Amino acid sequence: MNVKNIMMTLALVAAIGAKAQKEVVAPQNVYARQTMSLNGDWHYFVDQQEQGYYDYRMNPTNWGYFVNAKPKKPSDLVEYDFDACPTMQVPGDWNTQDEQLFVYEGTIWMKKDFEIGDGLRTTDNGRFLLYFGAVNYEAIVYVNGKKAGRHVGGFTPFCYDVTDFVHEGKNFVIVKIDNKRHKDNVPTLIFDWWNYGGITRDVLLVSVPETYVEDYSLRLDALPQSADGKNSVIDFSLKLNRPVAGEAVTVTFPELKIRRTFSTDENGCLHEQLSTKKSKLELWSPDNPKLYKVLLEREGETIEDEIGFRIIETRGKQLLLNGKPIFLRGVCSHEETAYTSRRCNSAADADTLLSWARSLGCNFIRLAHYPHNEHAVREAERQGFLLWSEIPVYWTISWQNEETYANAERQLTDMIRRDHNRAAIIIWSLANETPHSDARDKFLGRLAQTARSLDNTRLISMAMEVTGASNYVNRLQDNMNKYVDVVSFNQYIGWYRDVNDAPKMKWEIPYEKPVIISEFGGGAKAGLHGDKGQRWTEEFQENLYRENLAMLDKIDGLAGTCPWVLKDFRSPRRPLPGIQDGFNRKGLFSDQGKRKKALYVLREWYEKKR
Ligand code: GCU
Repeated sequence: MNVKNIMMTLALVAAIGAKAQKEVVAPQNVYARQTMSLNGDWHYFVDQQEQGYYDYRMNPTNWGYFVNAKPKKPSDLVEYDFDACPTMQVPGDWNTQDEQLFVYEGTIWMKKDFEIGDGLRTTDNGRFLLYFGAVNYEAIVYVNGKKAGRHVGGFTPFCYDVTDFVHEGKNFVIVKIDNKRHKDNVPTLIFDWWNYGGITRDVLLVSVPETYVEDYSLRLDALPQSADGKNSVIDFSLKLNRPVAGEAVTVTFPELKIRRTFSTDENGCLHEQLSTKKSKLELWSPDNPKLYKVLLEREGETIEDEIGFRIIETRGKQLLLNGKPIFLRGVCSHEETAYTSRRCNSAADADTLLSWARSLGCNFIRLAHYPHNEHAVREAERQGFLLWSEIPVYWTISWQNEETYANAERQLTDMIRRDHNRAAIIIWSLANETPHSDARDKFLGRLAQTARSLDNTRLISMAMEVTGASNYVNRLQDNMNKYVDVVSFNQYIGWYRDVNDAPKMKWEIPYEKPVIISEFGGGAKAGLHGDKGQRWTEEFQENLYRENLAMLDKIDGLAGTCPWVLKDFRSPRRPLPGIQDGFNRKGLFSDQGKRKKALYVLREWYEKKR
């Protein structure tokens, strides 16, 4: 299936979900569009009983808080007032901005006023799109009292065409946010991270022409024939938001002296190949994270982007980047800030974590267990980190529930849609530690096929679990092996199993594919010292790493490791007073940036893997 069909499929899948209300496919590279940021102070108030949405018979009401009613005369009864409520920052989670909301799971209403001046409208008959980077978990969005739509899933973007709802001058947007956990959600009821609620990523009002570029793809078609990268072939596809034929689009790579103009077909799409001819194409890699500026121009629209070109593939048990074997010196990381432990939402937030990963000697990061924000992905790409991006199909979700499947598939589609131009991302991960069953296999098998049909240029994997360990033989038997390009599994010898077993361990991994240890590790309270047999001490964790790394070195086909985890992170599942205090302490760094002894063991091992 070529890229043009992939983008058609992407748009189709997204459009099916988007039929409701005003939802539209979130435009590719939204930050390069004409936008007005709606970030900043938003008024908010808690609505535990969702009185602002349901009447006292628990039927949805037309007079909910989304109307933003104001008393018109002294006798009028209006029992809420957004403008008299406190504000909090968007993007941001509510848990770390208001102490009373630290553990709150439920509904909160948020409102933002915004002005549409004539500056923003690009063309007379332009469209206004309202873009959310992410809202955890369920968002119901209203503009000037009218419902734009409902979105579920806390880690992927969504967008509404609100042209018919907005007007010059004063407007307001109201969002009902609910982060209550439910069995049939994705993730389900239990997960080992903090359930940060709120409008956790950017909100943008995007002004686009009536016909605009919805999506485009730029990637290397194949490894350059010549070592200097001349005559390399770039695969270029583009899709407009409407099936308009004959639209001229000019693509320019100034540094590669490429400037070509093409026109769209009857579907509003184009699919072309660009040759770099005499220009040498530098391939993107961790040692040389080369990005090329590109311009897409058409009437009423100019989109600028930075694109890296690389090829990722497997050959037997080898992982090859740009045709050369590579070892993934990785670490797992949650999307939680250093020092302040809140949801990350900027390149600066990412930069601190990336600098910690770099100090470990890493060239790879597993973004756990959900798609991280676009700023972090682009910053990692600029800094030369290879990435694993995952959807939160975590532990035991409702495998037989079709709505749960549609939700997971939508999150997968939106993850790939947003980041399919990012060279840094080499692996799409479908799941983490999921229990074996036919229903699970069917569910994940369908997701794998969707991922493959959406993007056949990257590797597919998931974090599996070792099955059946007797006599020190660990077997990996998983029906999902046939769908993945890389077999990855989590193992916790030394923490959930005895560290002294490590030297005796044998591994049976009957698949001719590269192996990634997607998690291993153990906890330590930074600054707590003692005997290596005493749990929670830095010496215990240090010894665990030493034993694990020696053990992992014996695994045939080992192509990468990403220990759990870069830094201590908040989790409601970690109450141990004086040690955990609401933090998972398996970090190599404490949440305050303290380096634990195990860090040096890993760094030394990664030095040898360069
Ligand atoms: C699991 C899981 C992580 C969790 C970790 C742990 O493997 O994937 O999300 O935090 O183990 O127990 O610390």
